[in-house]
Amino acid sequence: MTNDDASAIPDLDIPQDFEMGVATSAWQIEGDLAGRGRCNWDDFADTPGAIVDGATGDPACDHVHRYEEDLELLDWLGVDAYSFTFSWARVIPGGIGQPSTAGLDFYDRLVDGLLARGIRPFATLFHWDTPSELEQAGGWTNRATAEAFADYASVLAEHFSDRIERWATLNEPWCPAFLGYAAGYFAPGRKEGGAALSAAYHLMLGHGMAIDRLRSAGARNLGIILNIIPTVADDPAMAEATHHVDGIQNRLWLDLLAGRGIPADLRDNCSSLTDWSFVHDEDLPIVATPIDWVGENYYSVNRVVSVEEAGSAAIGQDASMFPGAPEHAFAPRPPFTDMGWEVFPPGITMALQQVSDALPGVPIYVCENGAAVEENNDDDAIRDPIRTQYLHDHIAEVLRARNSGIDVRGYNAWSLLDNLEWASGWTKKFGIIRVDPDTGTRTPKDSASWYRRQLARRSA
Ligand code: FCB
Repeated sequence: MTNDDASAIPDLDIPQDFEMGVATSAWQIEGDLAGRGRCNWDDFADTPGAIVDGATGDPACDHVHRYEEDLELLDWLGVDAYSFTFSWARVIPGGIGQPSTAGLDFYDRLVDGLLARGIRPFATLFHWDTPSELEQAGGWTNRATAEAFADYASVLAEHFSDRIERWATLNEPWCPAFLGYAAGYFAPGRKEGGAALSAAYHLMLGHGMAIDRLRSAGARNLGIILNIIPTVADDPAMAEATHHVDGIQNRLWLDLLAGRGIPADLRDNCSSLTDWSFVHDEDLPIVATPIDWVGENYYSVNRVVSVEEAGSAAIGQDASMFPGAPEHAFAPRPPFTDMGWEVFPPGITMALQQVSDALPGVPIYVCENGAAVEENNDDDAIRDPIRTQYLHDHIAEVLRARNSGIDVRGYNAWSLLDNLEWASGWTKKFGIIRVDPDTGTRTPKDSASWYRRQLARRSA
């Protein structure tokens, strides 16, 4: 890696009406476990070996105590919008019942602080942190979790609908369903393909119920954020496996939202894992309740190959995440980020196209995009030309996609801060602002200065 100054990376002409922001998520930054109920990720973090460096959700970035400083950083960046997530267990400890006044107060201060700075609050209700009590009762394999989620949505809408500009129900439901219940890499660490399919369904049922409750309580601009990943193969022999991976990664969510139900091929291929008895036909219109926008989080591409072709070089995705698929493996191509994810900017256009084809007429926001970059020394922690180039190349692709007619209206960089990267703990850094894990000190990286300049030059 070279230490070129990020100022060497070209500027972009971003239209004034294209919304630019940054994103974070509750468990990854908030800390302050004393001020909220426990969640599945706290329990997972207590399981030896589940999180590579043994990091836990407290203090994370200590955002609950340092949010004023983070608001100042957002103001300095000049973002139009800030995408944050509510912690369900902070709003309703235990997941069901009375909301916590202290929890709502914290989000009041955050939302009011954004509005005072002219930054649009963009809130997500669920970014994988299920209250522990609900997880212990089966989590998302349990229909009651979807019902509890809808009640939680009502609490938030009644409290915040006058101040939150745009709402998402779920962030990337594929991850908690398939990384959490099938592969076991994420909380709750279960390895049951059938449970993952049930979790996927109940997440989407919870989404549909929540949209209805949000709308009835006066909230506007309602959507969901997916991680549609273009899924491709060169080898025709891998066509069937590729279709199945595309089914679990992409078509399942898009078809449910579009009112087409669960793809027939997935139902057939997974019949040895589940009898699908959790699917009730009368739910399907609820799941497909109309949304006002859809979010796409893009990082990389799925390249499906045979197990023989992948050999021992397989990294990134693996077959445990796609239950019911014919035998397959993944072979990303260099260059890689520090996550081992292939850098492939054209994939973001492919993903946007797939979303736009599946949900015609629904505006799209890129809700997350960014790169983890290896830090070999203190200098690397601030001079991050690889991340800046990644952001540049992906934003340029998104603007091209917009010019070609895809209705994409905004972009959010992941992430405002270095934070707890789930099972990777503090070992993978996505922030445009450095956070010292020991002291919590925030230091803008070169990528933050570049991003800030792109936002400022829009009015030039
Ligand atoms: C996304 C997650 C986000 C972060 C990035 C790197 O899948 O939504 O929390 O972990 O990946």
